[in-house]
Amino acid sequence: MKPLLFILSLFLFSTTTITTSSSPSLPLPPTPSPTSSPPSTPSSKSTLDPKQITALQSLNIPTSKDPCSQPSFHNATLCDSSKPFRHLISLTLSNCSSYVSLSFTALKSLSTLTSLNLINCPISPIHFPPQLISSLRTFTCINSLRKISGVWLSQLQNLTDLTVSNVQVKASGPYVILGHMNYLKTLTVSHANLTGFLPGHIHSNLTHVDFSGNQLKGNIPSSITMLDSLQSLNLSSNKLAGEIPSSIGDLISLKNLSLASNSFSGAIPDSFSALPDLVHLDLSSNQLNGSIPKFISEMKSIKYLNLANNNLHGVVPFNLTFIKGLEVFKLGGNSNLCYNHSVLSSKLKLGVSPCDKYGKPVSPPPSKDSSADDSSDDDYDDSDDDGSKHKKDNHHGPNKFVLGGMI
Ligand SMILES: *[C@@H]1O[C@H](CO)[C@@H](O)[C@H](O)[C@H]1NC(C)=O
Ligand SMILES: *[C@@H]1O[C@H](CO)[C@@H](O)[C@H](O)[C@H]1NC(C)=O
Ligand SMILES: *[C@@H]1O[C@H](CO)[C@@H](O)[C@H](O)[C@H]1NC(C)=O
Ligand SMILES: *[C@@H]1O[C@H](CO)[C@@H](O)[C@H](O)[C@H]1NC(C)=O
Ligand SMILES: *[C@@H]1O[C@H](CO)[C@@H](O)[C@H](O)[C@H]1NC(C)=O
Ligand SMILES: *[C@@H]1O[C@H](CO)[C@@H](O)[C@H](O)[C@H]1NC(C)=O
Ligand SMILES: *[C@@H]1O[C@H](CO)[C@@H](O)[C@H](O)[C@H]1NC(C)=O
Ligand SMILES: *[C@@H]1O[C@H](CO)[C@@H](O)[C@H](O)[C@H]1NC(C)=O
Ligand SMILES: *[C@@H]1O[C@H](CO)[C@@H](O)[C@H](O)[C@H]1NC(C)=O
Ligand SMILES: *[C@@H]1O[C@H](CO)[C@@H](O)[C@H](O)[C@H]1NC(C)=O
Repeated sequence: MKPLLFILSLFLFSTTTITTSSSPSLPLPPTPSPTSSPPSTPSSKSTLDPKQITALQSLNIPTSKDPCSQPSFHNATLCDSSKPFRHLISLTLSNCSSYVSLSFTALKSLSTLTSLNLINCPISPIHFPPQLISSLRTFTCINSLRKISGVWLSQLQNLTDLTVSNVQVKASGPYVILGHMNYLKTLTVSHANLTGFLPGHIHSNLTHVDFSGNQLKGNIPSSITMLDSLQSLNLSSNKLAGEIPSSIGDLISLKNLSLASNSFSGAIPDSFSALPDLVHLDLSSNQLNGSIPKFISEMKSIKYLNLANNNLHGVVPFNLTFIKGLEVFKLGGNSNLCYNHSVLSSKLKLGVSPCDKYGKPVSPPPSKDSSADDSSDDDYDDSDDDGSKHKKDNHHGPNKFVLGGMI
């Protein structure tokens, strides 16, 4: 290792020790026997396999403190408890400088990893050794590796958790990636400009699917609505179309659903009433028509309801008790929708007009001059609910990505 980098690592390390000095006492790693200890470097006290120490050093990860002691430097490393040397099972590289390279040699000695996470690491694409492919269960690539192909991802066949976000993924469709990943439980390929159709077959133990922010087209196939362990489905900001299939009601475990910012048409299917655990429902910025089904107000768990920017019509079927129980409620941008002013107050600023006695809007919807009509830009910025009780931030533009919880 180059002396300069080494000193830099030491410096980085010492600043973190200062900031984390209030953390509870760290378990002292057992001292390896003198015969097996690596050459006398500051890492000689480490319990980690010396080959892996060398690999970490090649990645600019400080090893002056034992990478196996917890919490590790930026939580970047996690080890098993094997003897005489421990092995890395999880590695997170964040904010890499562009000259870091994940060499084949380094990866080969890191083939004990079950979890590899790259966050903001615009390094060159990597060639995985077969041992690593076999052991990896979790792979995360957020704003990293510049550009990857579906075929490259598809080799990671033992994954249970795959997250790819803010990276261009070149593939003729999601099937290319998923075809042989038979153990997947959570899947995110978002903001990746992924093209093609939703696959006709998906592994059935998936609990989370997020394809938001791509170029997917076609309709929702029955392969999706057969995923009865699915708790979260996010297909927002694609080019999907057609009616929402009534088989959506088969997703009995569903808690979060977003179909926002697509071209779905037709009515909100009655089968939604079969989803008792639904917490988050976002159908905004589509071309849904028909009236708002009353059964939504009987969904006991619902906290987030966004139906804005559609072609829904008729009287809003909710009372104040129901609306007050919601954290987010948006209806603006449905010009034929109205509320019954003897049931709801204009103070709620629902972004819809009051009804006449026939259940039609008395006037054009309020605040045409505000943002109610800019449905084209993004689904999460609302119409005119500034000053209303709703907690949702009025931030504009899509969330880029969420770093929290990735490490
Ligand atoms: C490391 O993880 C612990 C527990 O998950 C967390 O409390 C801590 O903030 C993390 N430290 C860093 C530097 O991310
Ligand atoms: C990476 O950079 C982001 C933004 O600058 C910062 O919030 C985060 O703490 C950094 N993470 C690490 C592990 O250095
Ligand atoms: C997946 O793991 C099993 C057992 O750990 C192994 O036999 C198999 O070769 C692995 N698959 C791939 C594609 O590496
Ligand atoms: C997706 O494509 C658009 C337009 O071609 C481009 O601006 C954007 O950077 C691409 N996204 C990614 C993650 O590469
Ligand atoms: C799905 O999960 C169940 C229980 O966790 C397991 O028994 C079953 O083998 C899994 N199915 C597949 C196809 O992996
Ligand atoms: C649903 O979304 C909320 C945020 O709106 C999140 O806190 C929660 O973990 C999500 N639940 C699932 C099952 O994904
Ligand atoms: C769906 O994804 C978008 C963008 O990635 C995100 O802003 C939104 O919160 C997600 N919705 C749910 C229900 O997970
Ligand atoms: C809703 O739209 C569909 C086509 O998208 C149309 O066939 C149907 O008549 C419309 N229904 C209403 C009530 O406007
Ligand atoms: C409001 O609507 C809910 C659900 O439809 C209903 O259970 C409740 O009795 C209504 N409350 C009032 C005050 O009308
Ligand atoms: C508005 O509510 C009142 C009282 O519940 C009811 O009598 C009236 O028919 C409703 N008007 C419309 C247009 O639904």
